[in-house]
Amino acid sequence: MRVELCTNRLVLRTAEPALAPAVLAYFEENRAHLAPTSPPLPADFYTLTGTERRLARAEEELAHERQVPFFVLQGKEVIGTVNFNQCCRGVFLAAYVGYGIGHRHEGRGLMREALEAAIGHMFDERGFHRIMANYLPTNERSGGLLRRLGFVVEGYARDYLFIAGAWRDHVMTSLTNPDAPPPVV
Ligand SMILES: CC(C)(COP(=O)(O)OP(=O)(O)OC[C@H]1O[C@@H](n2cnc3c(N)ncnc32)[C@H](O)[C@@H]1OP(=O)(O)O)[C@@H](O)C(=O)NCCC(=O)NCCS
Repeated sequence: MRVELCTNRLVLRTAEPALAPAVLAYFEENRAHLAPTSPPLPADFYTLTGTERRLARAEEELAHERQVPFFVLQGKEVIGTVNFNQCCRGVFLAAYVGYGIGHRHEGRGLMREALEAAIGHMFDERGFHRIMANYLPTNERSGGLLRRLGFVVEGYARDYLFIAGAWRDHVMTSLTNPDAPPPVV
């Protein structure tokens, strides 16, 4: 089911094909900005049909709660992404989070505002217990943001993800929810 979250300055909406033009405009504008933290992208990544197909697939993943993919909007403009992936229930009740904000919108506390709302949804509405976020050791902005949100460093993973053309080390962090209900098994 589609979800919409409102904060003081933002609206977060889960993936749906109707967002494709705004999503594509966001990725096109921020191609260079996002490149240092990007995984390999499919050949049709910067096309409307490819974007529509990926949004339809993400909506399907949401229906099964394998993924909770949010787009961050100001008015009709997509300015960022917050994506919970590899959502796992059972006794783990955990998900990984990935995020990014457009270069024109950095440095205003908007990503923090978006992440607080999205994590609140995962904890309070969906009952998740752990959110994990991993960042490149050189990505000080991301490390600072996670610290401000209360994420705690848990380790250092060598050659962890294939990012920007190479296997790269990552700092591993997590935030836990002490109020999560016991898992339903
Ligand atoms: C990592 C990233 C999301 C951080 O974005 P950000 O805008 O710096 O993060 P925040 O929302 O926490 O904003 C913090 C900044 O806003 C400032 N700010 C201004 N108004 C603010 C407000 N009302 N509330 C909070 N902070 C505010 C803070 O002082 C801080 O500024 P500083 O960076 O100069 O110290 C962004 O750099 C990005 O998208 N990078 C590319 C993709 C990426 O790295 N993704 C993460 C992969 S792990």
